[in-house]
Amino acid sequence: MKVPLLDLTRQYEVIGPELEAAAIEVLRSGRYIGGPEIEAFETETADYVGAKRAVGMSSGTDALLAALMAIGIGPGDEVVVPSYTFFATAGSVARLGARPVFCDVDPVSLNMTPETLEPLLTQRTKAVIPVHLFGRAADIPALTALCAPRSITVIEDAAQAIGGSLGEARVGSMGHMACFSFFPSKNLGACGDGGLISTQDEELADHLLRLRNHGQAAAYEHSEVGGNFRLDAMQAALLRIKLRHLEGWTEKRRARAQTWRELTGSKGLQDQLRCPIDDPARHVYHQFVVRVPADKREACLGALQEAQVGCAVYYRVPLHQQPCFDHEGALPHCEQMSREALALPIFPELREDEQAYAMDVLAKVLA
Ligand SMILES: Cc1ncc(COP(=O)(O)O)c(C=O)c1O
Repeated sequence: MKVPLLDLTRQYEVIGPELEAAAIEVLRSGRYIGGPEIEAFETETADYVGAKRAVGMSSGTDALLAALMAIGIGPGDEVVVPSYTFFATAGSVARLGARPVFCDVDPVSLNMTPETLEPLLTQRTKAVIPVHLFGRAADIPALTALCAPRSITVIEDAAQAIGGSLGEARVGSMGHMACFSFFPSKNLGACGDGGLISTQDEELADHLLRLRNHGQAAAYEHSEVGGNFRLDAMQAALLRIKLRHLEGWTEKRRARAQTWRELTGSKGLQDQLRCPIDDPARHVYHQFVVRVPADKREACLGALQEAQVGCAVYYRVPLHQQPCFDHEGALPHCEQMSREALALPIFPELREDEQAYAMDVLAKVLA
């Protein structure tokens, strides 16, 4: 058996005709930049995430960059980010000449918490970017309670977590802004690059609309320097189709996560292979990252690869240890995760027999 880490062709097999019809409509419209597909997608996504406004962007990375530009981040400023995340969270800060300050994560939620954040706040801290890592919501209200009295902006990095929630609040509705990615492998994935910023702040949304179009306030009149951060009409049209399926896909991801936990239990592996849990956030399992003993991780990867089971390590080097950043001091939980993390296949169309096959392979290494 061959089990992919992710197989987008299985999704296309089901919704191909819907996507093709939407694509043909855009092709025939002659309207490829801006226009009704973008506006409709923004309205529908704002509704879905529970925000007043949403602004389509060219990628999750550009969404982070524009969000930071919108609040004037630049040289001399500090922005706190978790060290255990994808590079773009910190890279966007450094690109603006500001200093990313690396924060440890909680060992269970794998997210920034008020306890890991507070000691890092200084007079220079202008923003914090909590990441909803792997699809599990960070506690944005608790982080905001710490940041708001100090006038620090909270920007959710929601790239991995569309559809996730904490209590009644959806990811994307809690921070001052939230940045989403529609990279094809994401839970809501475009057929190319795409991103979006959601916000409850109308003025900020209007500012982001200008920033994504070279700071243009009126035709050829530039009130500030922005960039080309636009989402294409084609991607918006395809994403609108996929957004209608997202809740169903999320439920399937959650069912597959439950199957991983049950298989782990039935093999008696729960101490060797620690699965992510759901509580108290509604986890949307962008990735299913388990922890295995550090000294067995490479053997697990090797055995899975040998058996043709897709697997990966997110993230092998925490950002505070990347050569492009200078950071002194240890962040023990981030470092521990980078030694123990093992991502197993998870996507809505994954089959239980594929999971059982993969678990048999893992059991041979771990039992
Ligand atoms: C946590 C996180 N932030 C930011 C990004 C950047 O998104 P993009 O690839 O769309 O630029 C990604 C994903 O790729 C991500 O996982």
